[in-house]
Amino acid sequence: MIHIGIIGLGAIGQRLITQFNEHDQVKVEAICDTSESILTKTANELSIEKAYLNYQDLINDEQVDLVYVAVPPKFHHKIVMDVIKARKHVLCEKPLANSVKEAEEMLEAAKEAGIIHAMNFPLNYGQAATKFASLIKSGAIGNLRRLQLTMQFPQWPRTWQQNDWIGGREQGGFVLEVGVHFIQQILKLFGDIHHIHTKLELPSDQSKCETGIIATAELHDGTPIIIEGISNIPGKEYIGFTAIGTEGSLSLENWGQLRGAKIGEELKEITLNELPVSGLIDELVKAIEGEPADIYDFEIGYKAQVVLEKLRNK
Ligand SMILES: NC(=O)c1ccc[n+]([C@@H]2O[C@H](COP(=O)([O-])OP(=O)(O)OC[C@H]3O[C@@H](n4cnc5c(N)ncnc54)[C@H](O)[C@@H]3O)[C@@H](O)[C@H]2O)c1
Repeated sequence: MIHIGIIGLGAIGQRLITQFNEHDQVKVEAICDTSESILTKTANELSIEKAYLNYQDLINDEQVDLVYVAVPPKFHHKIVMDVIKARKHVLCEKPLANSVKEAEEMLEAAKEAGIIHAMNFPLNYGQAATKFASLIKSGAIGNLRRLQLTMQFPQWPRTWQQNDWIGGREQGGFVLEVGVHFIQQILKLFGDIHHIHTKLELPSDQSKCETGIIATAELHDGTPIIIEGISNIPGKEYIGFTAIGTEGSLSLENWGQLRGAKIGEELKEITLNELPVSGLIDELVKAIEGEPADIYDFEIGYKAQVVLEKLRNK
């Protein structure tokens, strides 16, 4: 049984605590949040005895084997470095850090400590992105001609994720918050990203995040990547990641759907297998037990951060 400590019980912390709680190879040993009301409510609802207001107390808890860090991005570095110092395994939310320098320090420290370091990139454990990857690998679209990421938000922050940081320029914005998932997919499936040129639409209030981006980049062989996003527009949220090849195209849409076709055909929805995909927690358990595991570590988190900061003109 692997004993988990969770720091940060906001929108995503609540989502994962349920998954940890339902998994039979892990136990939520302790939780932490600086908000006493969230902490007490979560502890009561899930009958968790150890509830800490100070994250260092959770890290120092000898029963805790792995710490899941689900606080806002600008606190990742400090907390994760303290987890690593205590030589505990760590699962960190994306984006890895709030700057390239912080991300690099976290990667180096985690490698040096010899702990398991992983990030929560849930697309990798879903049917749609898994099938997208296997179709690309099997050559279904032929040779890649272009990658395209489109992000459209009727409003940002979205209604389900209202907090004091996600609309801010310091650590929020949809490029960081949503773009990171697809930058990670590109790095995983197609390799490094070069020659990034970006044009941001920024509100005159310097504390507010971008409202638009048009960017271009290239894969190592010069294949173009187009990244565009905009917020505060009519209509519905749409997120599409498309690979266009010499024989067809394939789009991963709104996180869980796939559409594609061969050239000359109408685009159609691609049905997904009912086959279960192994989840993040299954893979974390394997990694901690020394087995080969499908986890996305600080190395890819660091590489994504380098791309993200260039996209954000940082
Ligand atoms: N992987 C995903 O799909 C996904 C989805 C949403 C958010 N996220 C990421 O998860 C992280 C958290 O996002 P959120 O939407 O849950 O934010 P949130 O603001 O809803 O929650 C953050 C929580 O952390 C607590 N907190 C802040 N500082 C703390 C500290 N020093 N010690 C203990 N608790 C502290 C806050 O009180 C709050 O309850 C961010 O990095 C975000 O980018 C990831």
